[in-house]
Amino acid sequence: MSLILKTPAEVRNFTKELHGKRLALVPTMGFLHDGHLSLMREGAQRADIVAASIFVNPTQFGPNEDLAKYPRDLQGDVAKCKSAGVLFVYAPEPDTVYPKGYQTYVNVENVTKGLDGASRPGHFRGVATVVTKLLALFRPHLALFGEKDYQQLQVIKALARDLELDVEIIGMPTVRESDGLAMSSRNSYLKGEERQRALALFKGLNAAQSANETSAEKLKAIIREHLSNARIREDYVEIVDAETLEPLADIAGRSARALVAGFVGTTRLIDNVAL
Ligand code: PAJ
Repeated sequence: MSLILKTPAEVRNFTKELHGKRLALVPTMGFLHDGHLSLMREGAQRADIVAASIFVNPTQFGPNEDLAKYPRDLQGDVAKCKSAGVLFVYAPEPDTVYPKGYQTYVNVENVTKGLDGASRPGHFRGVATVVTKLLALFRPHLALFGEKDYQQLQVIKALARDLELDVEIIGMPTVRESDGLAMSSRNSYLKGEERQRALALFKGLNAAQSANETSAEKLKAIIREHLSNARIREDYVEIVDAETLEPLADIAGRSARALVAGFVGTTRLIDNVAL
């Protein structure tokens, strides 16, 4: 059994005993799948000790989002953490992270403007705040995040750099189901044929990736065709610079990324690929 820590004091008790060992941190919201576990396994390769956090962070959910119904399975998650080489799991209560009188938030400016930042106001403020708190508490040598949440990864790289947190932020490739659907805790919401329709997110991105095309409008049209055929309601389809996330008109000679968000029934899913 990995050890479960519930308070910052318990975390500090554990980190002060590290005696120079390299610590990797993997922040999650739980309901773990192979995507999360890939981060933990990579952490175990790169560091002496891996810690994970499991916290469904209320400040990154909008008022009409799925905070209350977000899937949870702490006991199952702890077993999976252990199997992936995690020694300590930090699973605090919301009141511990945000006690009465809490009033400090982290805003990352430019890279949060479009995409999920535009569709989910306040989302990245919540993400940046909780990740900053976790990095300040654990002071890990490295922290691992998935490219599945590509904009989030860029937000976290920016805050670590700007706040001089002295942590290496490592981005890891998206882990997919055997048919290509990006693994996500939210896939558990998909009902019946929605699972099959959801695959169009990846198929559209894949088609754009393999098309011999540099015009962003044409690449977006390829993706949109897949979405509409699968009756996925588009939230956004964007072709952006892979670092700044600024929209591109043409990807020739650029390091570019295609990102998509859409609703399959009531479930909002995201995915992205390099172009
Ligand atoms: P969560 O959605 O639980 O994801 C935790 C980490 O796992 C993130 O870095 C995410 O990008 C990564 N991840 C999720 N699905 C993945 C996949 N299919 N392949 C590879 N990595 C994947 O992202 C969050 O939680 C939260 O916003 C958090 C950063 C913990 C802050 O609350």
